[in-house]
Amino acid sequence: MNYLDLLEEAKKASAMAYAPYSQFPVGAALLTASGEVFTGCNVENASYGLTICAERVAVTKAVSAGFREFKAIAVFAPTGEPVSPCGACRQVLAEFSPDGEVIMGNGKGDYVVAKVAELLPGAFSLKTDKNSR
Ligand code: THU
Repeated sequence: MNYLDLLEEAKKASAMAYAPYSQFPVGAALLTASGEVFTGCNVENASYGLTICAERVAVTKAVSAGFREFKAIAVFAPTGEPVSPCGACRQVLAEFSPDGEVIMGNGKGDYVVAKVAELLPGAFSLKTDKNSR
């Protein structure tokens, strides 16, 4: 799947966002190393700090289905500027795929691409083997 198609999946996923507090819907679509796509949207809560971002929903769906390596993740929000993943999501993405590409899109069809490691240089790591079960 190419980046534009992945971004389209992220846009579709943003329609499922539960964002009554921020009114800021976000969608994400994660492409695994073997070609599967997992989507996510932000899920807010009346206790605001419990909100989970679209990117982390997509990552946890992929990991819980047995996929730990991703090639790319597209993130979409209907904004002016391409949406940029928050610091917490960058750390979670770095756990699994520092070389993964992040495609950041907006409501105008623009997007920018950067590697996870570029978005979060010096990510925290305990140097454990993520592939051991
Ligand atoms: N949000 C995401 O889902 N992903 C991002 O990359 C940025 C922020 C969500 C969290 C919250 O529901 C809303 O956007 C406003 O912060």
